[in-house]
Amino acid sequence: MSDNKLRVVLLLGTNRKHRKSENAAKWLFRKLEEREDISARFFDPRDFQLPHDHYGMEIGQQFPEWKEAVIQADGIVIVTPEYNHGYPGILKSILDLLLKEYIHKAVGLVGVSAGSWGGTRVIETLLPVVRELGLVPTFTDINFTKIGTRFDEEGNLLDEAYEKRAAAFIDELVWMATTLRWGRENVASKYHQDKEQVSE
Ligand SMILES: Cc1cc2nc3c(=O)[nH]c(=O)nc-3n(C[C@H](O)[C@H](O)[C@H](O)COP(=O)(O)O)c2cc1C
Repeated sequence: MSDNKLRVVLLLGTNRKHRKSENAAKWLFRKLEEREDISARFFDPRDFQLPHDHYGMEIGQQFPEWKEAVIQADGIVIVTPEYNHGYPGILKSILDLLLKEYIHKAVGLVGVSAGSWGGTRVIETLLPVVRELGLVPTFTDINFTKIGTRFDEEGNLLDEAYEKRAAAFIDELVWMATTLRWGRENVASKYHQDKEQVSE
């Protein structure tokens, strides 16, 4: 890398037609972009042409942009709505495209819902998934409650309380991602792959 910025990948959790979580994801992405110590990339499930007859890591190489971004990433942010107290299927399908590429990298989780829980249950259901992937979750989630009222039609935030929450969320992600990057570079583990080797 030509600079020392932390690489952060933001993945939106749904491709639903009238998704409101997109507002939260795009707003948080702008917050990541404002940070001088972060280089951020946005990934939208609509851009993944997932096959109907195959699944999992075997097809991961068919998504080189995603694969390369995760290999280069120090941290991942998942912004997802809660569907029937769980995560959208497409989010899981995308996460399942890779495995070793995630190991010992930070992940921050953001839940979104129409009601008062702000996706707390989807965050709980995602935790065992990201742990199995080798990701390391932060503890400062963001919960977007009542998402229908949080943004105007242009996607501007209407509740200033989220500014402070986003700052705390990003600070913690930066700490975890920095620490894990140091660990990957300085502490041997059989799980650490040579980046170029992984991307072959
Ligand atoms: C299939 C489906 C299931 C849902 N299940 C829940 C749920 O379990 N809990 C909840 O708080 N909201 C649920 N919602 C409502 C979402 O909170 C609402 O759609 C919100 O706008 C965030 O999702 P979106 O990004 O798809 O718009 C559900 C919505 C859909 C489409």
